[in-house]
Parts: sequence; structure tokens; C-alpha cells
Amino acid sequence: MDPALARPATNAPAPMPLPAIQALARSDMAAVDVLIRRRLASDVVLINQVAEYIIGAGGKRLRPMLLLLVARALGRDTDPALAGHAQQLAAVIEFIHTATLLHDDVVDESDLRRGRRTANAVWGNAASVLVGDFLYSRSFQLMVELERMEVMRILADTTNAIAEGEVLQLLHVRNPDTDEAAYLRVIERKTAVLFAAATRLGALLAGSDVATCDALHAYGLNLGFAFQIADDVLDYASDAQTLGKNLGDDLAEGKATLPLIHAMAQADAATLATLRRAIEHGDTTALPEVLAAIRQGGSLDYSRRRAGDYARLAEDALDGLGDSPWLQALRGLTRYAIDREF
Ligand code: IPE
Ligand code: IPE
Ligand code: MG
Ligand code: MG
Repeated sequence: MDPALARPATNAPAPMPLPAIQALARSDMAAVDVLIRRRLASDVVLINQVAEYIIGAGGKRLRPMLLLLVARALGRDTDPALAGHAQQLAAVIEFIHTATLLHDDVVDESDLRRGRRTANAVWGNAASVLVGDFLYSRSFQLMVELERMEVMRILADTTNAIAEGEVLQLLHVRNPDTDEAAYLRVIERKTAVLFAAATRLGALLAGSDVATCDALHAYGLNLGFAFQIADDVLDYASDAQTLGKNLGDDLAEGKATLPLIHAMAQADAATLATLRRAIEHGDTTALPEVLAAIRQGGSLDYSRRRAGDYARLAEDALDGLGDSPWLQALRGLTRYAIDREF
């Protein structure tokens, strides 16, 4: 969709574009990158190889950037301890995210990630799972260095919820009766809670009051919903070159994501039977019919609208927090999350 058409007819200023947002976070993110590389190290060679391989492929680094932007938006710019702690927790969040990706690609049997073969395709499932565990536990080592019980509580609860989300998703695999409510319960835990942890931690480190921490939690959570729905649209609507991941992975896994759930609700009896079979068998040979049904049902537009609803809730959560380049960046990310191409 043309972003200009999606924008409501108000006098609201244009959202800050991604390059400007990245420029604001650049020096913090450079420090985080140094930290990530330094703290990745292990004397077990395979750990270094696999971890360097996936971390070195980049990724958007959106979650650590969120934490840093929130800390800057709400904290005193001149506080070097705040910046140091925020950078350390940003690295923790990226380690946790990367661990979930290593595990996710095993579970999803994916062979392309960040434009490269997945670690499981190169080294096998066992190495991916075990190095994922290494990254998880390394993230715990980093987080305890801050010696703050509330930080540890948030991250312990978050990683536990992510694990629940992944298992919940497993229970829905190849189940064509998965509905929108069940889908939303899965994506809240597997994706949105980590966004919420990043933004809540940024607010907590900045010394914000409870109401502000809660507002930033709501911002992150809703942004995470929007981001995952957009990801599920891209799985049907992008191309592997742009996305750096294979298209149709969700169907191949028998995952009923929002575009497919909506298409089933719109389909006639014959099409519905085809879609149900495709999910039950994780049948990618049915992809052309599935794409046709999704087109017929207007299901990508529906999903984009739902992502837009969550993006708006995220932006609303920032109301009353004033204005600054940092806050404009956070608002800009609500647009980026849904308009992104990869
Ligand atoms: C991928 O996350 C997993 C989802 C929650 C969709 P990203 O799209 O942020 O992955 P990278 O880190 O940029 O590769
Ligand atoms: C997100 O789901 C997985 C995690 C939160 C780890 P997906 O399975 O859609 O993520 P991609 O598309 O493989 O990145
Ligand atoms: Mg996956
Ligand atoms: Mg996906």
C-alpha cells in the first residue's frame, strides 16, 4: 500500500524515517556492537563460529535500538552510568533474540536467515540448539552484572513467556481451526513480550515512575504485535532476496498465521477445504491456491489493517510524554514496523 494513502488526513507531522532514527541511535548502537562481539567470546571454537556467523549477518537490531531510544527519551542525557547500563541490557536483549532465532529456525526447519543459510542448515540442529542455549545463558551472565533484582525479574519472566509462546505455537501447528484469538495469544508471547521488555527496561533504567514504565511497556507490546503481524504478511508478500528469509515458510510448517486465518473465514466451501488441507499437511505445493485465496479474501490488507491498529495503540501509549527527537524516533518506529519491506 502507498504509505501516503494509509496516512490519516490530519496535520500530524510525517513520521521520522528509519535512517534518521538509526542516525540518532548510531553511537549507542556502535557501543552495543562492540559489547556484543566482546561478550560473545568462548574458548569453545564451535560456539564462536556459530555465534559469529549469525550475529555477523547483522539483522535489524531493532529491539536493542528500542531500549536505547527509550532510555535516551526518558533519562538525563548526561548520565554516563545510564548509557553504560542501557548498552549492556541492549546487548542482553539482542542475545536473547538471537538465541530464539537459532531455536526457531530448527523448529521451523528454515534454511535461509538474514540472507544466509541458517546455522542449522550449515552445522545441523544440535549445534544450533546448543549455541542458542549458550547465548541465552550468556545473556543471563550479562544481566546479573547490573545487580538489579527488578531487571532480572523482567528478563526471567520474558524468556519464560517466549518459551511458552513457542510451545503454544507448536500446539497449533497443522491445526486449521486456529483462530485469530489463538494466533494473537501466540504472537504476544513469542514476539511482543520481548519488545515490551526492551522498552520497559529502557524506562526503568532512566528512573521513570511506575506509570511511565507501564506506558513504555504498552508501547513495546503493541509494537511487537504490529511487527509480528507485518512479518506474517511478508511471509506471503515479499521475495526471498529482499526478506533474507524464504517465503512460504509459515505454510510449509503448517502455521496458520493471520493472512491464512482471515482467508479461511472468507473462503467458499471448496477453497476452505483446500486451505485446511494445506495447513494439515504443511503443503507448499498448494501455495499458488493459498495465495489466490489470500488475494481473493483481501486478507493481506486485512492483516495490514490489524497491524496498523496495534501500531496506533503503540503510538497512543506515548501520549503525554512530551516531545523530543527521541520520542519522535519512537513514534516513527510504529510506522516502520508495519511499512517495512524486510
Ligand atoms: C525475526 O525478527 C523474528 C520475528 C519476531 C518476526 P527480526 O525481523 O527483528 O529479525 P532480525 O534480527 O532483523 O534478523
Ligand atoms: C518469530 O516467528 C519467531 C520468534 C519470535 C523467535 P517466525 O517464525 O515468523 O520468525 P521468522 O519469520 O522465522 O523470522
Ligand atoms: Mg521461523
Ligand atoms: Mg516469519
